[in-house]
Amino acid sequence: MTAHSDQPGTEELEPVSEEQLAQQLAYYSSRAEEYDDWWLRRGSFDRGDSANERWFREAGSVRSALDSTDLGGDVLELAPGTGTWSIHLAPRARRLVLVDGSAEMLARNPVAGLEHVRTEIADLFTWETAQRFDAIVFTFWISHVPRERLTSFFASVGTWLRTGGSVFFVDDLPVAATEPHVAAATGQTMVRRLDSGASATIVKNFYSADELGEAATAAGIELEVRESGTLFQYGIGRKR
Ligand SMILES: C[S@@+](CC[C@H](N)C(=O)[O-])C[C@H]1O[C@@H](n2cnc3c(N)ncnc32)[C@H](O)[C@@H]1O
Repeated sequence: MTAHSDQPGTEELEPVSEEQLAQQLAYYSSRAEEYDDWWLRRGSFDRGDSANERWFREAGSVRSALDSTDLGGDVLELAPGTGTWSIHLAPRARRLVLVDGSAEMLARNPVAGLEHVRTEIADLFTWETAQRFDAIVFTFWISHVPRERLTSFFASVGTWLRTGGSVFFVDDLPVAATEPHVAAATGQTMVRRLDSGASATIVKNFYSADELGEAATAAGIELEVRESGTLFQYGIGRKR
């Protein structure tokens, strides 16, 4: 397995501890109130007209890819957070299940109260379900999965998907390491600043298309990984 060219080789990376995973989740709960500033390019994330225009243009191209993916029926969204993408999934799903570890993030998800939407507050590194889904979506989540857990994460996705079911994901390309809330990046972790001045260590991996494709293939999923230009990596898959 080769790491993305901007990260050291896998063999040099320290595994992520349970404490670091707990800190990552706590970070999102603390960040919930300010989280949408990142996606909407507000406050310190407003980097001027040209950068913002690129952001929204590339985000729009990812959204078009989502719109053209078969995401109906019983849909599972992993780590939906404040619902940036849930709002596009809920109108298309017969039933939507949202699983996130942070009550604070989920409390801001606009679709969480809808009749056909079920929410679960759970740790995705231990969560299990006997339910099977027609589609599974995870946005800005895969980069937070430690390398040593990537194969098992995809194995779970493969298990939870019905044959012929779809996968959609989107995440950051490595340029995200230059965002204003990044204080430092080492190995597979990053130190992030909050508006309060507090900081926390999170997991941030920039997986190559090959690494993701390999993990997906092992889980019985054919995954095509694309880039929006400079900012986002996204993928569309189908379980064989
Ligand atoms: C970068 S945010 C992505 C949110 C949303 N999908 C989006 O595209 O904006 C990461 C999400 O993962 C959740 N999360 C972090 N660690 C988790 C864990 N161990 N189990 C479940 N959710 C977790 C956070 O609460 C947060 O909502």
